[in-house]
Amino acid sequence: MVQFNGPYGKVSPSYQRRAVRNPPAQPTKNFAGKTVLVTGCNTGVGYEAALKIAGLNPKKLILGTRTVAKGEITKSKILAQVPALDSSVVDVIAIEYTSFKSVSQFADTVKRSTKSLDCVLLSAGLASPKHQLVEGGWEMAYKVNVLSTALVTVELLPLLKATPGSVLEFVDSAGYCNVMSKDVSPILDDESASTLQFFNDPKRWTLERGYCEPKLLLMFVLEGLVEALGGRQGKLGSPEDPILLACCPGQCKTDLGRNFPLSMRLFMVVYNAIHARSAEEGSRTLVTGLFQGEEANGRLWVNDQFDDLSPGLTEAEWKGLQKRVWREVWGVLKEYNPELSI
Ligand SMILES: NC(=O)c1ccc[n+]([C@@H]2O[C@H](COP(=O)([O-])OP(=O)(O)OC[C@H]3O[C@@H](n4cnc5c(N)ncnc54)[C@H](OP(=O)(O)O)[C@@H]3O)[C@@H](O)[C@H]2O)c1
Repeated sequence: MVQFNGPYGKVSPSYQRRAVRNPPAQPTKNFAGKTVLVTGCNTGVGYEAALKIAGLNPKKLILGTRTVAKGEITKSKILAQVPALDSSVVDVIAIEYTSFKSVSQFADTVKRSTKSLDCVLLSAGLASPKHQLVEGGWEMAYKVNVLSTALVTVELLPLLKATPGSVLEFVDSAGYCNVMSKDVSPILDDESASTLQFFNDPKRWTLERGYCEPKLLLMFVLEGLVEALGGRQGKLGSPEDPILLACCPGQCKTDLGRNFPLSMRLFMVVYNAIHARSAEEGSRTLVTGLFQGEEANGRLWVNDQFDDLSPGLTEAEWKGLQKRVWREVWGVLKEYNPELSI
């Protein structure tokens, strides 16, 4: 569901430098009358996006945060910077993405707290410094950036469908284009292999794969969800369905490397000084993505346009792998809760 006619290539330092020289446009619309939910709101691009949304007149702003205590600090920071915002507009609800139960409880609380949900921005995510297993035997980034992101989306779908013109946006990364055919050739060659077991394998893990491969899988999940709703790229299955899209803020100065060793964090500070946008600049993309129309369905919003890079897989490889990954992800979610449906 991405474009396969190029420009091909990995996210390179020159791509990042170009992005720094050309920051995304500021949003020009507002959220009047809308209920907006943001996860990953405590730091980085998610915090800056929540702050921007708070200043754009939302009816309700729901902050999804690992702990309520952290979320309350974020709420206070936002209220201090947007004095016109009434404190009652902002709700804080806990969500811990490493736990499916916490994700479901979060969705239940959201459903109890509002009858409509216009915009959902799923910005929670991480870059793992090493292969770390969490609940279910999943490497942390697969659990957080892929499986729980898919679960919270499915759990919120009924509320989104009940809200005309709703939008849900994943914060993904153009880094998914860095996954090349040769990286996944063992599963391309063996159609019976489990794709999730392959990606989750600690023996294959490297720093780059540990970040870029979950981001590729999130693009596959996006396409799976869009198709399960009867839609396709740029087209909704039916008018009441939410628009589902992904976005990429570009390389940004955030806390994403917080768990890396000191030497690598120092390297990133130096690297980011010339290759990264500010978190505020990156967050513009997250916010303007929420204003995109049906054209955005199933696509990646980046640098004020859709899909500015093409994947490192051929179209045929993408199609085959996407179907297998989505089938397995859906299997994991159904195993957790057999009553889930789309
Ligand atoms: N920075 C970049 O260069 C860049 C580029 C492309 C895409 N992105 C994507 O942008 C998104 C936001 O990242 P960022 O750069 O803003 O990094 P960040 O400052 O580290 O923000 C990540 C957010 O995710 C939350 N989070 C992490 N693990 C979680 C969990 N298990 N449960 C619930 N929330 C969790 C964190 O919450 P706590 O603070 O409470 O831990 C934090 O608010 C990520 O998906 C990232 O991959 C970033």
